This record gives sequence, structure tokens and C-alpha cells, in this order.
Amino acid sequence: MVAGNIMGIVGGSAELNTGARIPLIGLGTAAITQNEEEIIAAVTAALQVGYRHFDTARLYRSEHALGKALNSAFQSGLVSREDVFVTTKLKNTEHDDPVAAIKDSLMNMQLEYVDLFLIHWPIKLRAEIPLAPVKEEDFLPLDIKSTWQAMEQCMEMGLTKAIGVSNFSSKKIEDLLNYAKIPPAVDQVEMHPQWQQKKLRDYCNKHSIHVSAWSPLGAPNTPWGSNEVIDNPLILEIAQKHGKTRAQVILRWGIEQGVSVLPKSYNTGRITENFQIFDWSLTPDDHDMISKLEQRKLLRGDNFVNSTTSPYKTVEELWDGEI
Ligand code: A2P
Repeated sequence: MVAGNIMGIVGGSAELNTGARIPLIGLGTAAITQNEEEIIAAVTAALQVGYRHFDTARLYRSEHALGKALNSAFQSGLVSREDVFVTTKLKNTEHDDPVAAIKDSLMNMQLEYVDLFLIHWPIKLRAEIPLAPVKEEDFLPLDIKSTWQAMEQCMEMGLTKAIGVSNFSSKKIEDLLNYAKIPPAVDQVEMHPQWQQKKLRDYCNKHSIHVSAWSPLGAPNTPWGSNEVIDNPLILEIAQKHGKTRAQVILRWGIEQGVSVLPKSYNTGRITENFQIFDWSLTPDDHDMISKLEQRKLLRGDNFVNSTTSPYKTVEELWDGEI
């Protein structure tokens, strides 16, 4: 299966249900380090290598540096605004006012619009410290319908070209489609060879919703991920066979599955390496073997579950059984 054969996917981009195109590889910017200079250097290197898709979130605190790097690239003529696809995401604490949140993001990034604005999680909180356990008293009743209506307003106001969700199960999307005036263009979820999301992707394909993969490498060397995806012996074997790196095999697998991949790296060598996935392909045998890998979700969201105040008493409820 090659990317060009998948419906809606041509070359290095896929078509969204808005008619816009989303580049198949984007630079992820979720990281512990929030060193502005490091982020600016990484984004600038990525632009020079050819990346045209950048993924941030209000939670990541990388918006300001990303915006600075993009605006210098616009000023120097390296790229123009229309050439890049920028995504940001609503925080769990901002469900009451997505319009104010996106306006703040646009101010942070000094942009007039983003290309995609996502609900980061199906969770509404009073307060949140990234990676710390959420306190019982910080969960608020969730009303996705009103959040979505405000997301639609963001699009109608021209603040974003598309809206979507992140970390939503098929069931949560199905509920949303019952009342959405504007259907989500994207569901951004954890996806890599050890968490392939087959059911969700089938559902999204049927409903013209593009899937983007966060932590497509399994987030090696991070507190929330693991080295087990990149260290998987089958991935190493396939990489050696093709004369590619393990990261390249994993990312190529992702785009051949029809999703866009958002690897995070702030290292110029790895940024370059991760982009070299367009002039070769995996074999049907490679796909067959990868499809049989044991599945294990890395970020289960235990943080967002409790038996009293969360809308989800168990992780099974959070993912509607897709875990
Ligand atoms: P670094 O920023 O030092 O390159 P994911 O995108 O799955 O969340 O994974 C992000 C992690 O993977 C980061 O720790 C990043 O480190 C590392 N990483 C990114 N690209 C590669 C690569 N090509 N080979 C090995 N590790 C990589």
C-alpha cells in the first residue's frame, strides 16, 4: 500500500473535508523544554528542510517561539503564510471560551488565523498542571456540545480554517456528528506501530475525518512515552532491509496508513532524518508484519479518570472501550 493509492492522499499531503490540504509530516512541539531559542532554531531548521506543517497546543507553551520563527521566515521570504499549516489546541481549562483562547493563541503567534484548532481532550478542568495528577476538585461537568458550538464560531469568525478534536474515540465523534453544524476535519490521536488505532481509523475514513498521529515514534526518552516502539526488533529488521533508520520506517508506515505524522524533534539531524520518507516505500510484507505487532497504548489517560468527579470512572470509559 503506498500513500498515493489512499483516497484523498496525493504526494506529501492529504485533503481535509474543508477542501484544504494537510501536509503528511508536521513538526511536533510538545516537549519538557520550553527554551525559546531551541524551539526557534528547530522550527527554522524544519522550514529549511521542507516541513510545512507545525503542531502546537496552548498547553505546550511553544506557541510564542513557533510564531516568532514563522514570522521571521515570512519576513525573509523563505515561505509565505499560505505555504504553512499551523495547528493549535484548546486547553482543558478553556472549554468555556474557545474564542478567547484562539484569539490569545493568535496573539502569541502573531498570526491572523491558524489552519486547524482542536479540542485537546474530551475533558473540562478548573486547573491543570501538565503531567501532574488532576485533583478531584478540578474536574468540571463536560458539555462538548457547547464547546463545539464555540469551536464552530471560531471557524465562522475566520480565526481558524478548520476545527477538529484530539483524543476522541469513535463513539465521542459519533455523538458530536449528531449535532455538529461543521463536522470535525481531524481527530489527532496517539498512533504508532504499537497502537495502530484500526477501529478509529476505519470510522474516521468512513466519515471523511482525517487522522493525525501524535507521538508517532512512541515518544522515546520522554516521561509520557517509551523507547519500546523505536526499539522494536521488527522495526529494526525492516529498517536494515531498506537501509533506513527505525524512525524513518515508523514514520513511513504512518503516512502509508493514510495519516499525517507529527514527530517532535528539536535536533537538526533528526528533524532532517524524519523528513526523508517520501522517495521510498514499505512492502506489503512489511505492512503485514507490522499489522501483527502486539498493541499497547502508551498514554492511557489515567490522569483523567476517577470514580467521583471525572465524567470517566475508568480508562475504558474515557476511550469508550478503544483501549
Ligand atoms: P529529540 O527532540 O532529542 O530529537 P514522538 O514524536 O513520538 O513524541 O517522539 C519524540 C521523541 O523522539 C523526542 O524525545 C525526540 O528527541 C525523539 N526523536 C525524534 N526523532 C527521532 C529520531 N529520528 N530518532 C530517535 N529519536 C527521535
